[in-house]
Amino acid sequence: MRVLGIETSCDETAAAVVEDGYKLLSNVVASSVDLHAAFGGVVPEIAARSHLEIITPVIEQALKTARTTWDDIDAIAVTQGPGLIGSLLIGVLTARTLAIAKNKPLFPVNHLQAHVFATFLTKTALPGYNLPAKQPKFPLLALIVSGGHSQLVLFQKPGKYQLLGQTTDDAVGEAYDKVAKMLGLGYPGGPSVDKAAQKGNSEAIKLPTVKLDNPYNFSFSGLKTAVLRAAQELAGQDYTFPSSKLPKVLTKVQKADIAASFQATAVKTLLDALKRANWEFQPASVVIVGGVAANRELRQQALKQLSTSVIYPDIKLCTDNAAMIAALGYFQAKGGAKLASPYSLEVEPSLSM
Ligand code: KG4
Ligand code: ZN
Repeated sequence: MRVLGIETSCDETAAAVVEDGYKLLSNVVASSVDLHAAFGGVVPEIAARSHLEIITPVIEQALKTARTTWDDIDAIAVTQGPGLIGSLLIGVLTARTLAIAKNKPLFPVNHLQAHVFATFLTKTALPGYNLPAKQPKFPLLALIVSGGHSQLVLFQKPGKYQLLGQTTDDAVGEAYDKVAKMLGLGYPGGPSVDKAAQKGNSEAIKLPTVKLDNPYNFSFSGLKTAVLRAAQELAGQDYTFPSSKLPKVLTKVQKADIAASFQATAVKTLLDALKRANWEFQPASVVIVGGVAANRELRQQALKQLSTSVIYPDIKLCTDNAAMIAALGYFQAKGGAKLASPYSLEVEPSLSM
């Protein structure tokens, strides 16, 4: 069964063709990230406009790379939410139109759950992919860490899961992005903080970790503020000093130390919860997915600290893509999920797990 996936929840316009939920035939991602860089974050109107301009050629390219015609497509899967409303609308309206015009079943996909199903992509003839050797097994413990979300979820099977915990404030990727902005390291913040941290001393600055009632919940807002205070102090300023002026007054070494200390604390927070859940629920597989799963320190520490080996998607499938949408769409189709009406499917910007 070949599924065409369409993803437009944030600033990536993506389309992919996946066969039987595991074989990656194509994965096309056009990002408007460069257009947002000047603003230090995603500008929703710019993102929506870029999706509109590029979605048709992206889908055509996905079919072409997969050497697939419309006749060979068995279903269309599209991100319904969560995400930016204007961005989601472009993907959903395109998918609805194609489902009617090409007479294909349409499956609405939860973007967050889909990140987990990126780990089910295990085969491809496309060059440059490092896919997991085997698909994860259920029960599956998933740490979903992205720019919008930080969640710990236990899946009994596709579509059946228990949300163990989530962030009570900022997502971890968001904290990375904000720290990067404070240090003037560039957007998106994850890769730039990760890079700067490699040259820094992670013990240079003591940063707090928060204890919450639910040991599987996270909080990153306090950490972000603690980083700001530490940066102001290192710069010889008080707490009224504006964060926008920090990049100019901090030295390269100070920035690297702040980045490394922040990263060590963020990674410890995530892994403490993951280790505890792994011990308590004894899952058959553990996966780490979402944009932050690309983080080198997180991968290194997980390897050192976790008794189970962790399955990651290829780096290109950690950040937003449509292959994960198509993969979950396949499982929904196979599991007999209800079809969406192409005449009325709505976006759900604040869809939860
Ligand atoms: O999954 P994703 O592409 O989009 C959302 O659904 O949010 O995740 C994007 C997030 C951004 O916050 C970005 O800074 C972060 O993932 N990220 C990283 C790394 N690469 C991307 N965070 C830490 N280390 C990285 N290497
Ligand atoms: Zn995402």
